[in-house]
Amino acid sequence: YLMFARLIGTGSYLPGLPVTNDDLAARGIATSDEWIVTRTGIRSRYLAEPGTTSSELGLIAAQRALEMAGIAGSELDLIIVATSTPDFIFPSTACLIQGKLGNKGGAAFDVQAVCAGFTYALGIAEKFIRSGSHKKALIIGAEVFSRILDWNDRGTCVLFGDGAGAVVLEASEKPGILATAMHADGSQNGILNVPGQICGGQVTGDPFLRMDGQAVFKFAVRVLADVAEEVCRAAGLQTNEVDWLIPHQANIRIIEATGRKLGVDRNKVIVTVDRHGNTSAASVPLALDEAVRDGRIQRGQKVLLEGVGGGFTWGAALLEF
Ligand code: UT7
Repeated sequence: YLMFARLIGTGSYLPGLPVTNDDLAARGIATSDEWIVTRTGIRSRYLAEPGTTSSELGLIAAQRALEMAGIAGSELDLIIVATSTPDFIFPSTACLIQGKLGNKGGAAFDVQAVCAGFTYALGIAEKFIRSGSHKKALIIGAEVFSRILDWNDRGTCVLFGDGAGAVVLEASEKPGILATAMHADGSQNGILNVPGQICGGQVTGDPFLRMDGQAVFKFAVRVLADVAEEVCRAAGLQTNEVDWLIPHQANIRIIEATGRKLGVDRNKVIVTVDRHGNTSAASVPLALDEAVRDGRIQRGQKVLLEGVGGGFTWGAALLEF
């Protein structure tokens, strides 16, 4: 029989209070609410206090997802965290969260695929579960991008926010994730990166996020349409048959262009970028949790999740909720 990876819980967490575009301008960034809203659709974002880490945000999102799923952290046999802003070089953020959840013995590791990280982690977990090797998985996207922003670069610092989202998957005869896809094109590593490292106790290179916005924009629109079509084809669906589209939340213009290309009705596209900004690997599970908890996403519906980010990386998961 077919073994599906079925979603049994979602959770999310945003730190502190919303920081508006006007708040950023008041902090001395040469920008305006009008510019940011027109170009990106972002009105506010959440920024973690200095010292708050991805594992702290991810832990709360995970606890909320476990509570909805009705299982204890100790029952998990797989924990994957998608993050590009881990607490430490090592151990992984997944191991830190595993320790705080009181889970011993499950596999735990991080996935580094930037804003496509959550879709990568879901795809990996789905393969683990379908193989029969693992039964209960916790997948988290958690980020503190505020730590890697250059607050003197108005072209990037206004775009990102902090937060975490999580899902719990369980092996089930009921669907389930129907199809997943993961792709990368490493020749495009230069258009979005943080090209720095720690060496001998010093930072070498450039430890801030750098981006060629227009190159990223074009790449994102193309691959988000391609990968959505790919997973729909694999599941025998037309893209306009999905009930909900949850694209990576980076820019409302990218989200709307993707919806149009796929023929997905505007009111079937989940949008949080206006209130969350771009939270990288956390954006998709944050949006998913919001739409599950407010009752828009109902059991039996088809939900298409997709991400794109530095690497370049992109991925998607089509699931029956
Ligand atoms: O996870 C993937 C993450 N990244 C993305 O999805 C980003 C994709 N790209 C974009 O969303 C857009 O390219 C941006 C929103 C980043 C930029 O929009 P754009 O229309 O490509 O603007 P631009 O970079 O060409 O800049 C236009 C002008 C420039 O001024 P001049 O040279 O025309 O005088 C910038 O200096 O806007 C200026 N500008 C700003 N002005 C006010 C750039 N950032 C700001 C700002 N406030 N925050």
